Amino acid sequence: MSETRETPQTIQQRKGREPIAALTAYDFPMAKLLDAAGVPLLLVGDSLGMVVLGYPDTTHVALEEMEHHVRAVARARPHGLVTADLPFETYETPAQAVESAKRLVAAGAEAVKAEGGRAILPQIEAIRAAGIPFLGHLGMLPQNMLEEGGYRIKGRDEAQREALLADALALGQAGAFGIVLELVTPIVAAEITHLVEIPTIGIGSGKNCDGQILVTTDLLGTSPDFIPKHAKPDELLRDRMIGIIRRWSENLIGPINE
Ligand code: KIV
Repeated sequence: MSETRETPQTIQQRKGREPIAALTAYDFPMAKLLDAAGVPLLLVGDSLGMVVLGYPDTTHVALEEMEHHVRAVARARPHGLVTADLPFETYETPAQAVESAKRLVAAGAEAVKAEGGRAILPQIEAIRAAGIPFLGHLGMLPQNMLEEGGYRIKGRDEAQREALLADALALGQAGAFGIVLELVTPIVAAEITHLVEIPTIGIGSGKNCDGQILVTTDLLGTSPDFIPKHAKPDELLRDRMIGIIRRWSENLIGPINE
């Protein structure tokens, strides 16, 4: 395993040189696994609301819950950059965004991510002015799912395409070190990747991004309710785990009653 610790700069420098593998980490053992596999970017994503805490969507995740999970991941001291999601309604104003980001950094995050482009530009500028590295997130924004009534692919019409390109440029100018592109049509994701100087990290957005990110439990096939089509796990580890537990529980040696 490389001894080099990743920074926002080392992630950014991979653009055009080396694909970026990013995965979510929610606790100490998962962070240790990802570190052993040499993953350069660990996201403490608010997807933990669904795959760890049992909420129906990410809008229920509280900042305190994110802090708790960031602390657990940071204790693993991974070489990959620990980036944490600002949860729903914790970055409504620039002052609130900075306060929330500082709490995640105090918990051990080395960078923060928030959903949106030009709509949250003052918040991003305030976070950057406070010296906190920022990862953007465009396309399908899970924190907007209640407002939009579901998870919808973005970039399908010209207005969405133009908005995505303008948002991506704005994020680059505001000093983001990368942009997650979630459920963006592959053609528009490729266009953004060519347009911006910072790396794009796709999820369900085709192969032509500078990197890819997945929810780790989707990749391993252990997500509790649903695995999105783009994850394509090699095998459902969940089934193997159930088999191990069943075999153990069916072969207990108890006291012999004569
Ligand atoms: O919360 C999360 O895990 C994310 C990824 C899906 C990009 O934002």
